[in-house]
Amino acid sequence: MTHAPVLKVENLQTRFKSVQRGKYVHAVDDVSLELYPGEIVGLVGESGCGKSTLGRTIVGLERASGGRVLLDGVDLSGLSGAALRNSRRALQYVFQDPYSSLNERQTVGEALDEALLIGGLRSQDERNSRTKELLDQVGLAHAVKDRHTRELSGGQRQRVAIARSLAVNPRVLICDEPVSALDLSIRAQVMNLFLRLQKELGVACLFIAHDLSLVRQAASRVYVMYLGKIVEHGPSQELYDHPSHPYSQMLLASVPEVDPRVEKLRSAPLVVGEVPSPTSPPSGCRFRTRCPLAFDECARTTPPSYGLSPDHNAACVFAADLYGGKRSALVRQGAG
Ligand SMILES: Nc1ncnc2c1ncn2[C@@H]1O[C@H](COP(=O)(O)OP(=O)(O)OP(=O)(O)O)[C@@H](O)[C@H]1O
Ligand SMILES: [Mg+2]
Repeated sequence: MTHAPVLKVENLQTRFKSVQRGKYVHAVDDVSLELYPGEIVGLVGESGCGKSTLGRTIVGLERASGGRVLLDGVDLSGLSGAALRNSRRALQYVFQDPYSSLNERQTVGEALDEALLIGGLRSQDERNSRTKELLDQVGLAHAVKDRHTRELSGGQRQRVAIARSLAVNPRVLICDEPVSALDLSIRAQVMNLFLRLQKELGVACLFIAHDLSLVRQAASRVYVMYLGKIVEHGPSQELYDHPSHPYSQMLLASVPEVDPRVEKLRSAPLVVGEVPSPTSPPSGCRFRTRCPLAFDECARTTPPSYGLSPDHNAACVFAADLYGGKRSALVRQGAG
């Protein structure tokens, strides 16, 4: 690599106490990933696989039960006081729902002013001019600053929420399905905004989504998550052309055509079966209970991550065959 990652996550684990006594929900289990300055990286997987928990643990909204988060090479768990606060500011979270992430009683100007003040900008004049700059950056007219956030459309609110995150000059944005609550017609606009911010401000972005269709264009690299673990990661196009984990193949096959009308009708990815409980995940490979290729060995050992090409890895014993097209996890699911 030519440069150092801005964010490095090493063997991160997050577990919650389960409602079943003495048991734990292993929501994030031994996840490692890297984000380089100014890149957009996708994190995809079905509902409940641990994407939000991973994102929330990275920014400190959940406590890690193991592993490390390093910002510019500095382990956050070793920091306290002002140093920790500064690092936390450098990692910002953009929530899925722009309706709950903003205070309805505030005007846009007040919401941004508050964020700038928290960010340590004491002078009112400086805050005013920075507010203008932030509105520019997210493509909102200056006049919007006097409106209450409740008067805004979903897309406008999400832009305000993004402006708030940018107020503290973050190095990394964790964007948790930031466009999925928005109308289809404005999703593309907000997606373009992320692309522009990445180019103009050099902010690195971990972009969480359910399926690969949304991050395909925007992300340079993609991590595929299943039941608390990363099962495959690689450059976007490469992962599209050569998905090498059965789960990625099935997830990709469930991506609909680009027609937004079809997308709207679709409720969930077409991967067969249910995600097992993260309280007692399957032994060996976690995907084996839904995998058409699974055999005895998959229940016995956790597959290591196999390198397929530079920066492309998949955790399946058949990864090389799947990569080379010698095998496929795509069984016919019947017509229609
Ligand atoms: N506070 C919590 N206490 C107990 N279990 C939790 C808690 N938060 C999340 N979980 C569990 O952790 C697992 C991962 O949840 P998470 O919300 O991270 O998934 P996700 O991939 O973001 O799903 P979605 O796509 O639906 O947003 C789920 O089984 C969930 O029920
Ligand atoms: Mg989530």
